[in-house]
Amino acid sequence: MVESEDFKSKITVYVVVCWILAAFGGLMFGYDIGISGGVTAMDDFLIKFFPEVYKRKLHAREDNYCKYDNQILQLFTSSLYLAALFASFVASKVCTKFGRKPTILVASSFFLAGAGISSGALNIWMLIIGRILLGIGVGFGNEAVPLFLSEIAPVQHRGAVNILFQLFVTIGIFLANLVNYGTAKLHPHGWRVSLALAGVPAIFLFIGSIVITETPTSLIERGNEVAGHKALKKIRGVEDVNAEYEQIKLASDIARQVKHPFKELMKRSSMPPLIIGVLLQVFQQFTGINAIMFYAPVLFQTVGFKNDASLLSSVITGTVNVLSTLVSIYAVDKVGRRKLLLQACVQMFISQSTIGGMLLVHLKATSNTLTTTQAGFVVFLVCLFVMAFAWSWGPLGWLIPSETFPLETRTAGFAFAVSSNMFFTFLIAQAFLSMMCHMRAYIFFFFAGWILVMGLFALFLLPETKGVPIDVMVERVWKKHPVWKRFMDD
Ligand code: BGC
Repeated sequence: MVESEDFKSKITVYVVVCWILAAFGGLMFGYDIGISGGVTAMDDFLIKFFPEVYKRKLHAREDNYCKYDNQILQLFTSSLYLAALFASFVASKVCTKFGRKPTILVASSFFLAGAGISSGALNIWMLIIGRILLGIGVGFGNEAVPLFLSEIAPVQHRGAVNILFQLFVTIGIFLANLVNYGTAKLHPHGWRVSLALAGVPAIFLFIGSIVITETPTSLIERGNEVAGHKALKKIRGVEDVNAEYEQIKLASDIARQVKHPFKELMKRSSMPPLIIGVLLQVFQQFTGINAIMFYAPVLFQTVGFKNDASLLSSVITGTVNVLSTLVSIYAVDKVGRRKLLLQACVQMFISQSTIGGMLLVHLKATSNTLTTTQAGFVVFLVCLFVMAFAWSWGPLGWLIPSETFPLETRTAGFAFAVSSNMFFTFLIAQAFLSMMCHMRAYIFFFFAGWILVMGLFALFLLPETKGVPIDVMVERVWKKHPVWKRFMDD
């Protein structure tokens, strides 16, 4: 078998440009995640679209945990994820049939349309249609970009390159927080500016999708072997790419025999990467990260910060999110995936349960005895939590499913991972405010419980994939794992 050490590569300017342009797909996703929390906290926005919620917000002596509980307000946030869920399956077909590059082009076009319609919305339905278009963009982008990055990365840097996607997600969330901080002061159309600015990264992604190369894997799989060989030489920056070419060719020959990838995916031998890919995404959402990301401004208002201070607090968590992702880029190909995930479980468990404990004692339905110092400590704990997530379950939830499927089921399998992410993001976006209203501070213990479960999962069921070439995972990882080998045919 060809060893990864035989693969030659240099990092060229062109390949770095490709990585960065593609990663703009992550920025779009992150911007959409980050923008809705701030926008739904803006009075102008609430008065225009959700007057009921606005009225409730004005009642100062209302229940601390329930002031924002409104299903339609939540539908605004979560409609995007529902659209993305379905779109990712269509995107998987487009990705296999036409390649990663056109899929990214489609994503950017939907992003542009979505930003236009939602920022120009005259009524709630335009707003939601805009979100749905953005969601289709996310479905296409999140399907194609992580696969694109994993396929064009040299094996020894695959983790780091793939995490560029997550890095841009965190930059997108951060920028969205900054933008909201500024536009909250622009009356009455600040929210329109927030939504319209999503068009900027969409333009970058659009240009990017024209400039980047198609991945050699996708070219070869679709029968363009000469173009695939040429693309491989171009992205590796060396003449002798034969060892790697042969490996991709072999994987492609097998992949081409599979006419129905989704059917293939249901076979017993496809289960290990499928189960792992789906569970990683489900667990990623059950850390509670998006309860924090979407509703950080709302959460900080609940613990007693005023409007401005709460936006500022989410800027702080945004910065922590970006910087800690850099740690992951540095560490993932050195210490490996498993150690990062396990360490983070410990840190996230401590922070979620302490937040829960503090709120349980100090934040009652109609009274808030948190002092400024204690509220500051809650922000600190939130940062500790975000930090751990950002170097582990955040990036690895995307990386591992993009690198563990064999080529024949890669786009189909990854679509399940993407759609699981979207489904559970939707569920949390839709349910969080109501859950907070009913479970109160216990919601943080709920997430802490899940973190315990996912720690055990990572400990016993997750194989290490660091340094293994993407097209030999079956032989080198699945067939060797004490549990998963039982699923593999010879
Ligand atoms: C997750 C998002 C989350 C973000 C936070 C991503 O990996 O999929 O749901 O909001 O990380 O940085």
